[in-house]
Amino acid sequence: MSADGRQFPEGFFFGSATSSFQIEGRSPGIPQGDSIWDTFCAEPGRIEDATDGLTACDHVHRWSDDIALMASLGLSTYRFSISWPKVLPNGTGEINERGMAFYEQLVDGLLDAGITPMPTLYHWDLPQALQDAGGWTNRATAEAFADYAALMAERLGERVGTWVTLNEPYVSAVLGHITGEHAPGHADLGEGLAAAHHLLLGHGLAVTRLRDAAPHAEIGIVLNFTPAEPATDGPADAALARVRNGFDNEWYINPIRRGTYPADIVEALAWDQAEVHDGDLDVIASPIDLLGVNYYTRAVVSAVGQQLPFGTPRTEMDWEIHAPSLHRLLVWLHTEYDLPKIVITENGAAMPDQNRRDGRVHDVDRIHYLHDHVAAVLAAIDEGVPMAGYLAWSLMDNFEWAKGYAKRFGIVEVVPGTLERIPKSSALWFEQLARSGIIPPVTVLDGV
Ligand code: FCB
Repeated sequence: MSADGRQFPEGFFFGSATSSFQIEGRSPGIPQGDSIWDTFCAEPGRIEDATDGLTACDHVHRWSDDIALMASLGLSTYRFSISWPKVLPNGTGEINERGMAFYEQLVDGLLDAGITPMPTLYHWDLPQALQDAGGWTNRATAEAFADYAALMAERLGERVGTWVTLNEPYVSAVLGHITGEHAPGHADLGEGLAAAHHLLLGHGLAVTRLRDAAPHAEIGIVLNFTPAEPATDGPADAALARVRNGFDNEWYINPIRRGTYPADIVEALAWDQAEVHDGDLDVIASPIDLLGVNYYTRAVVSAVGQQLPFGTPRTEMDWEIHAPSLHRLLVWLHTEYDLPKIVITENGAAMPDQNRRDGRVHDVDRIHYLHDHVAAVLAAIDEGVPMAGYLAWSLMDNFEWAKGYAKRFGIVEVVPGTLERIPKSSALWFEQLARSGIIPPVTVLDGV
């Protein structure tokens, strides 16, 4: 059955997401510390197009226009992240008032525009000073994170109704410490396991501190899920899919909801759990009010390297486009983990963006992607999954980490050079959805 014309329940919200390092850039008026991503970008060969985050989308100067842009698109929620080194240049100590003022203005501006702010405290830009002391492989970083979280809640507490602790600890731990694709660029399994544990511990410690400082706020974490499916019915593929699901997906949600790491994967990795102190898992399993789900694609895994068939639809990231997996994922999360509330905190696609019509990127492929994934969310609601909102990744084209600026996820184009913002056709489609709560047909824009 087509989802076109179907309506989301009352109160379900639509908005967009960004992160500090990907959009802000720096301002001479805001002295700040370096983050691990500044260091990483300065290392030759780390970023595909050899770019950095020094200017990015210049959001640090254009934030007010960006708020007006979101309001013009009818978006009711904005998920952004706070740059830890902007507010605490060395990661600990006294607040940098000029950095703090930036976020206070941003939050006030959002509230004035009727947009709900949803700050994420850590979207990967760890202060370099903390990395110099071991970063996430050092337990002290978890404690520093909790102190930072408490400071932010004290300063913004009354204005912020929902806090997100971490964005995608899997990516920080695995891409940062095991594959080396992301900052700090290390390649060591033991480091990755230690980092994952300390990230989760930092989350748990922060939950308690946030509750004390902002008792009325909702608190959650954002996890990324890439459901793995075996390429064939054979036992080798099934075994590989199990490892991938255990290590990529359950490694984070299990400790948070059940207070345990997946035992079969702990054994398969021969992890001695030296970093896990008595009581840590109780801290990590502190109750949360919502889970943020980031979903982009599934993984079809093969023990013998079998590929997906030629012609399988993919994005510019080479990620398979597969909306049914989002529906299955949400039903699975609800059934297995009994979550109080789920928000899609990121979903979207990098597309070629080569077609223009009337001066704007005419990205029908991205509209299709958003349409089918939004419909998958509605199908999950039909089955009783407590979905509260959907945030598109991303509000605008930005610094896509190791890929640089070449991969564009925005529903709004950021013109290279001038940094002018021009809504793409997908933004106009999304606006209709956000304003009405009704899924518009993809064809609604034909003839625009
Ligand atoms: C997620 C990140 C986000 C963005 C998207 C494409 O893993 O959280 O910053 O890079 O992927």
